[in-house]
Amino acid sequence: MITVGIETSCDETAAAVVSDGKVLSSEVSSSVDLHSSYGGVVPEIASRFHSEYILQVFRKALDKADIGAGDIDLVSVTQGPGLPGSLLVGISFAKALSYSSGAEILGIDHVHAHLFSGFTDGMPPEDEPFTGMVVSGGHTSLFLCRSVEDIRETGRTRDDAVGEAYDKVAKILGLGYPGGPVVERMAGKSDGKDRIGFPRPLLGRDSGLDFSFSGIKTAVLYYWRDCPRSEKDLIDICFSFQEAVLDVIIEKLKRAVRSSGTGNIVIGGGVVNNGPLRRKLRAFCEAEGINLFMPDKQYCTDNAAMVALLGERLYRKGERSDLAINAEPSGLTGGRR
Ligand code: KG4
Ligand code: ZN
Repeated sequence: MITVGIETSCDETAAAVVSDGKVLSSEVSSSVDLHSSYGGVVPEIASRFHSEYILQVFRKALDKADIGAGDIDLVSVTQGPGLPGSLLVGISFAKALSYSSGAEILGIDHVHAHLFSGFTDGMPPEDEPFTGMVVSGGHTSLFLCRSVEDIRETGRTRDDAVGEAYDKVAKILGLGYPGGPVVERMAGKSDGKDRIGFPRPLLGRDSGLDFSFSGIKTAVLYYWRDCPRSEKDLIDICFSFQEAVLDVIIEKLKRAVRSSGTGNIVIGGGVVNNGPLRRKLRAFCEAEGINLFMPDKQYCTDNAAMVALLGERLYRKGERSDLAINAEPSGLTGGRR
């Protein structure tokens, strides 16, 4: 079975080819540089970029996989959540492709696709549940997954997503966009002492599995306003901010695993690029005897391989969309998925 994935929910234009769970190609073209001077994604610029590049990204994915449009069985496309104009470019392209090639079409939830990106090298057995977490620029959520069709959100951020907090902190500190990589780099220059001790929100016993990151960002704002703003201050802030955020992520994951009793964790999303997060997660899972499924770095940020992989699994379970499929900017909560 040949599945083509199409992803245009934010600032990455992506296409991929997957065959029976194996990624044959995964192409991504990003408009991130066009947004950097604005400190965040400008929706209008993002959708115009998708419109300009989608065909060439798709062609490249087909060429690398050495297939033609007539070989495609399924077009799996991100339906939401995401920027409406950006989603519509990918969906319209997928519809035209499905109509002209005769392939089936299936709309995919972007956050669920991130969740399954950790399974590019295989999954736990069908009947084994897993605890999932997505930490990206737009989402921070915990899930209990019993199967590909049974994904239940057990906690979510009440305000900023983790990646969004990185981006906002970078903006406050004048470090540019996207914030994650540059804040990680600055934190890496630290001697490893958490000198500031930013708050770790919602870690009280009754706080459940929800998150809140806007308080840490505000604490950074005030600290930066009142300090001498030396290079050392910058490094200390980045390190202490990152420590606070990672402490919260690991602690909530611990609680989620304990409450669900699952022996598997899968984590996805752009923030999983973060080296210290990857190291802390490995250490935690090794100590607790938990299987950890984590995407390779190329599959952490937005890509179409994850969309094709999830689409193929759902298609095999009988899921289908039709050519009336439309963008669902808030996610597929009320719809097919
Ligand atoms: O998954 P993604 O490409 O887009 C969304 O669906 O949101 O994630 C992008 C986010 C950005 O906020 C970016 O700052 C963050 O992932 N990110 C990182 C790192 N690399 C990217 N955050 C922390 N550390 C990193 N190394
Ligand atoms: Zn994403």
